[in-house]
Amino acid sequence: MGDKVHYSELGLVNTRDMFKRAVGGGYAIPAYNFNNLEQLQAIVGACAETSSPVIIQVSKGARDYANETMLRFMAMGAVKMAREMGSNIPICLHLDHGDSFELCKACVDSGFSSVMIDGSHLSYDDNVALTRKVVEYAHAQDVTVEGELGVLAGIEDEVVAEHSTYTKPEEVEDFVRKTGVDSLAISIGTSHGAYKFKLKEGEQVPPLRFDILDEIERRIPGFPIVLHGASSVVPEYVGLINQYGGKMEGAVGVPEEQLRRAAQSAVCKINIDSDGRLAVTARVREFLAQNPGEFDPRKYLGAARKELIKLIKHKNQAVLGSAGKA
Ligand code: 13P
Repeated sequence: MGDKVHYSELGLVNTRDMFKRAVGGGYAIPAYNFNNLEQLQAIVGACAETSSPVIIQVSKGARDYANETMLRFMAMGAVKMAREMGSNIPICLHLDHGDSFELCKACVDSGFSSVMIDGSHLSYDDNVALTRKVVEYAHAQDVTVEGELGVLAGIEDEVVAEHSTYTKPEEVEDFVRKTGVDSLAISIGTSHGAYKFKLKEGEQVPPLRFDILDEIERRIPGFPIVLHGASSVVPEYVGLINQYGGKMEGAVGVPEEQLRRAAQSAVCKINIDSDGRLAVTARVREFLAQNPGEFDPRKYLGAARKELIKLIKHKNQAVLGSAGKA
């Protein structure tokens, strides 16, 4: 374990102000997952260029992969990089899907400015108790907390959920009041990973359950809602991956129009991981197939980073509406 550090020393901010502005402004803050240098450079560079506030988020698996101390310095470097680009965008470092009080505490202590405690698989009362405990610890350091009600299907790092359970709107007021969370992740039909919907030939992606979202918004007006599993699984990338030796048949995501609609509502944080992974894999596969003699990682990771920058700018400008909102 490293030394204790407060996020403000790293130049980071929590989500409170970002969300307040996003809820009133009809857009959503992008929350991009990262676990390596090129991803972080691309996220921060693209958000600085489009002047978008940003949440850089790490899952438990990414934290194990990248090393906690390394992450802290990467986040600090990301803030410096944005400032050197002449940009003052707010940057939040967030733990995605924290699964225990201990993990959330460790992240608060190591400079995260926001944490998610995901007790959605627990009983309602246990979810409330665990979330409350994390909120008490985090708020003492002015770190914001995201809770979750309802279960998303799919694969999130090593965590697999077979079936989704939609959020029950009748639980949200009580949950928010008892736990003191700053934002709430809900389940309205999205799922983690690249295979979100099993479609038969000619079938369209079913619409998200906007009726549930509307009912939640009616019960807790103005409260920040978070949408997980929000990658579009960009068909161009799936095509490139399959063209250059990959095998990703039937990969489907959430159409951009539906995400745009969500971003204009009470949804003020949209989580995107799979699309970034696909962009990187597509360009790396293509590059290596077209340049079989090349062995400099900067070449193929450079191509991946360039694509990621393009993807993130597009998301900020055309999907989430966060461009120009910093
Ligand atoms: P995707 O797999 O759709 O990118 O979702 C990521 C996510 O919700 C991370 O918490």
